[in-house]
Amino acid sequence: MVEPAVIGTKNVIVAAAEAKVRRVVFTSSIGAVTMDPNRGPDVVVDESCWSDLEFCKSTKNWYCYGKAVAEKAASDEAKERGVDLVVINPVLVLGPMLQSTINASIVHILKYLTGSAKTYANSVQAYVHVKDVALAHILVFETPSASGRYLCAESVLHRGDVVEILAKFFPEYPFPTKCSDEVKPRAKPYKFSNQKLRDLGPEFTPVKQCLYETVKSLQEKGHLPVPPPPEDSVRIQA
Ligand SMILES: NC(=O)c1ccc[n+]([C@@H]2O[C@H](COP(=O)([O-])OP(=O)(O)OC[C@H]3O[C@@H](n4cnc5c(N)ncnc54)[C@H](OP(=O)(O)O)[C@@H]3O)[C@@H](O)[C@H]2O)c1
Repeated sequence: MVEPAVIGTKNVIVAAAEAKVRRVVFTSSIGAVTMDPNRGPDVVVDESCWSDLEFCKSTKNWYCYGKAVAEKAASDEAKERGVDLVVINPVLVLGPMLQSTINASIVHILKYLTGSAKTYANSVQAYVHVKDVALAHILVFETPSASGRYLCAESVLHRGDVVEILAKFFPEYPFPTKCSDEVKPRAKPYKFSNQKLRDLGPEFTPVKQCLYETVKSLQEKGHLPVPPPPEDSVRIQA
């Protein structure tokens, strides 16, 4: 995971330098930003934050480690070769899928709808709509003054909130009702700022809509059975 991320990133910057492209927009991740056990609860997470590489290594969080190292490598290589690099750091991406397969961020939601997750974790996660991530890439590419990193996030929710929102929209699925950790206090959402990106113009899609559209897309692509209409409505139609 780490090697292709770093080498692949460097290759792209080298190719961009050779082709004299105007600007490279690199898709990093919140994983390169938040993984720092020493960050206090009152710190507002923004573009100045970096994940702690030693912490990522010791927790074997190779995705976050790889994204942080790849982002640093992109930045160093771009500086050395005079490439104009701008970085987007999306949080977990939701919304309609283009691909036919299930990726990691979709599993994050799907497991709550299939009955495979019997409980939800005592943890928080930030979310953003895929269209907003796409728009962010276009905006930082087209805005001459854009530079550095851009945190791309709409809101941070506890898993319990996610399950609650989904269950209100789609009560027919077997959502977990209990947290896996009933001992520790409920994890609190961290504070973050998406101001830098919002200064370029976009409004973020509310997380409830992101969750709704994700489930509809899972149904439309055949990953999730569409439950039959309630008995009453069948009788009325008959
Ligand atoms: N999804 C999220 O929630 C999220 C959040 C933050 C950042 N990101 C970042 O956004 C980017 C896309 O993520 P995604 O969720 O859309 O991932 P995805 O659905 O798993 O798609 C990954 C894509 O990368 C290609 N790929 C994987 N390994 C490759 C390799 N060694 N060489 C060339 N291509 C390779 C895959 O090709 P094949 O289709 O041929 O396998 C696939 O098209 C990643 O950089 C990810 O870190 C994603």
